[in-house]
Amino acid sequence: MSSPPQNKVPFDDDPLWYKDAVFYEVHVRAFKDSNGDGIGDFRGLVEKLDYIEELGVTTLWLLPFYPSPLRDDGYDISDYTDVHPSYGSLEDFTVFLNEAHRRGLRVLTEIVLNHTSDLHPWFREARQSRDDAKRSWYVWNDTPDLYQAARIIFTDTERSNWTWDPGSKAYYWHRFFSHQPDLNYDNPSVREAIWSAMNFWLERGVDGFRLDAVPYLVERDGTSCENLPETHEVLKWLRRRLDESYSAKFLLAEANQWPSEVRAYFGSADECHMAFHFPLMPRMFMAMRLEDRKPIVEIMKQTPEIPEPCQWGVFLRNHDELTLEMVTDEERDYLYDEYARDSTMRLNVGIRRRLAPLLENDRRRIELMNGMLLSLPGSPIIYYGDEIGMGDNIYLGDRNGVRTPMQWSGGWNAGFSTADPERLYLPLISNPIYGYQALNVESQRRSLNSLFSWMKRVIKIRKSSRVFSRGSLNFLNPANHRALAYIRELGAEKVLAVNNLSDSAQAVELDLSRFAGFIPIEMFGGNPFPRISSRPYPLTLGPYQFFWFRLRRL
Ligand code: NOJ
Repeated sequence: MSSPPQNKVPFDDDPLWYKDAVFYEVHVRAFKDSNGDGIGDFRGLVEKLDYIEELGVTTLWLLPFYPSPLRDDGYDISDYTDVHPSYGSLEDFTVFLNEAHRRGLRVLTEIVLNHTSDLHPWFREARQSRDDAKRSWYVWNDTPDLYQAARIIFTDTERSNWTWDPGSKAYYWHRFFSHQPDLNYDNPSVREAIWSAMNFWLERGVDGFRLDAVPYLVERDGTSCENLPETHEVLKWLRRRLDESYSAKFLLAEANQWPSEVRAYFGSADECHMAFHFPLMPRMFMAMRLEDRKPIVEIMKQTPEIPEPCQWGVFLRNHDELTLEMVTDEERDYLYDEYARDSTMRLNVGIRRRLAPLLENDRRRIELMNGMLLSLPGSPIIYYGDEIGMGDNIYLGDRNGVRTPMQWSGGWNAGFSTADPERLYLPLISNPIYGYQALNVESQRRSLNSLFSWMKRVIKIRKSSRVFSRGSLNFLNPANHRALAYIRELGAEKVLAVNNLSDSAQAVELDLSRFAGFIPIEMFGGNPFPRISSRPYPLTLGPYQFFWFRLRRL
């Protein structure tokens, strides 16, 4: 029997809503094609909002959908205030936004601050002559000698951060692809132009922005050109503009840096509301392979406190390679060996694979990783397709292998598009393990035992208490290092999470004496476990098993 339609109050008024959010990262072009041209679009996305709502996530993060030559899948913007014609029109976007809001889903879009496409009219004009009014919107130099201490990020494609512009006879600066010239944030007109682009989308009702590549906004010779005080000034300025005009909107910083550096992007709660926790992610993969909690515990201990209104964004996978920048050289070698033995799986400083293939399609490991994601501090971000365990295609160029069409059904083009298969923007995954014929939303919806059904359940439990989103974190220190156990606490609410990182059954004794007299209630089944006393609390866990217990004084 279907449940009666609910009259939803779209949102609560809490300006800190992002702290309790469960994010879902979606690429418009990958989700659903409504007009049969082989490319996903906004109308298609609207058709699939019920699915997103059913999954239980609360906020959508959309990859760039603006006009662009798509040489970096839209991160090369040529117009900040329109929609790429393949994805629809501004009107389609507005319909989508209203439909999402009507379902209580907030929407986060991208603002690529650091650079534009070289086809953006600003750059086209800037390169016309050295005296052009737009010249100083970008970063130019007569020689490629400036800023030599800045590293190269796309190591597989770029040899230098400078590229020669033969027309105007000078070098321009770019931290990413050479077709993505960096904007010059020393120029106040650039800040105003970017703010006005943000304002354009805020006026249309978007709830916030992921700020792409924020560490690189300002350059200074003799420095790494990352995380400079001047860059933080720009962000504080943008935040002030945001707060002057809007409430309950938010900024999420993409700063692939160590926690101590990322801390600065929260400022005194006057910069970004959220920032991704990049170093945690590879350490979760490492801990599982080493069967040892140490990498996770250590990085969380090195993670500084953040201002009360702020929040970490935690994730397992996203649209990029699994970045290994925030690990030591030894750790990187280890992760490459364990997760990317085939060199085709490697890209830049990372691994271009999806979650399920990384975990050898082992349902126990996929559940454990998601369990940790949803119970460690921070707002979790789920990458589209990972909720059904989609596979990847490492033979597609760049990061395309993790951006293939969503697998809706076992029918024509996986239910993604009515186009001829050759016309799809990327081929579907069709191998015997991850192929859409067997691995798809429709078949997983039919089984209560599917990964999708499990994900719905675990997300629901996560959302049942703010202890997961706002509670403190305290690690327990059992002798068995294969167990990762922690207490999350928020007022009277207490949750104990225990994870077995290993491939074999484990016994663990926990010091829960602080909770003597409490009864652990297992949160998936609601069953009481033996009462806690002042003696060590014994538990046994199967391979890769985890428990969440609500600690109740009964
Ligand atoms: C970070 C984005 O996540 C990535 O996909 C993009 O290529 C770079 N920024 C450059 O914009």
